Amino acid sequence: KAMPKLEVCYNLMDFEAVARHVMKKTAWAYYSSAADDEITMRENHSAFHKIWFRPKVLVDVENIDMSTTMLGTKVDIPFYVTATALGKLGNPEGEVVLTRGAHKHNVIQMIPTLASCSFDEICDERKGDQVQWLQLYVNKDREITKKIVQHAEARGIKGLFITVDAPQLGRREKDMRTKFDDTGSNVQNTNNDNVDRSQGAARAISSFIDPALSWKDIPWFQSITKMPILLKGVQRVEDVLKAIEYGCDGVVLSNHGGRQLDTARSGIEILAEVMPILRERGLQDKIEIYIDGGIRRATDIIKALCLGAKGVGIGRPFLFAMSAYGLPGVDRAMQLLKDEMVMNMRLIGAPTVADLTPDMLDIGSARSH
Ligand code: FNR
Repeated sequence: KAMPKLEVCYNLMDFEAVARHVMKKTAWAYYSSAADDEITMRENHSAFHKIWFRPKVLVDVENIDMSTTMLGTKVDIPFYVTATALGKLGNPEGEVVLTRGAHKHNVIQMIPTLASCSFDEICDERKGDQVQWLQLYVNKDREITKKIVQHAEARGIKGLFITVDAPQLGRREKDMRTKFDDTGSNVQNTNNDNVDRSQGAARAISSFIDPALSWKDIPWFQSITKMPILLKGVQRVEDVLKAIEYGCDGVVLSNHGGRQLDTARSGIEILAEVMPILRERGLQDKIEIYIDGGIRRATDIIKALCLGAKGVGIGRPFLFAMSAYGLPGVDRAMQLLKDEMVMNMRLIGAPTVADLTPDMLDIGSARSH
């Protein structure tokens, strides 16, 4: 198929449009699908459009500094590459392509438990003092989980993100319809021999995840590792308060890219619920709050930071960029976000990340919808 030149991708949505035409059908179905009617996936994107800016004028914005820290690591721009399984479905080299892009732009990569490359290959790809985190699916066999966690710590991983929104994988019908039959990968820590491949890629690789995981397991994780522990997939303020109580270092307000519970709220909507309550109780510095889902523009990142997020995770856009164009695609996607970020921080009158405060937004109109 004729391939549009990389230069005609002007924003993150453009990579998706190209990827859709050049990717294998099964790979496209796995990456692009979401649960049930995909209402939450669409909401993740459109929720940002209900929030409006209140820009400041006559602020000196000649120099823009969009750097910040995440779990103590200094990054160039407040996003990280979130964990997405099965990188080799889209690109024969898999997740290491994302490692290279993350290095070039000085952002953090979260390695998925279900990566196509082996965990060690992805660690080996790091350059200099590059930082990676690990996304963890908790195995029913805790000895396996303990090995994964302690190996990750020994390999210098700087944060453990336990996925808590997937006791069972959601039904992604687009994915199921393509009858997944080849991972093209070497997924670890799973028992791939006995899986039912007629239910799509997601079902085929997830049978080991423990649905009995609960709050009482958190102290056990704290006893086996010194890495910061964060919960990925929290969706209500009560659970953020519980995470603080249990001594977690952070949470990701996320609905798994709309791939789990359909009609769950978007991360940005949950953030608007969470932050005022944390501030009211003086807890806002007790824990780092991240969000992911539907972030496609720098304005989305800026809105999350204004509300109080430490940073945001971005998933599909980098997968699509990597699938369509390899490393140059990932590089361009990240550069586009950086360019948008400089421009939009200028336009709202915020020269640094510290200037991104709640008064820069009008969310009243969002709340009344
Ligand atoms: C994911 N996500 C995910 N999350 C997780 O905790 N473990 C995983 O293995 C995966 N795998 C995965 C595969 C694919 C193809 C996608 C698209 C997503 C969810 C991911 O970390 C993140 O929550 C969302 O992708 C964020 O939404 P956007 O940026 O894709 O809209």
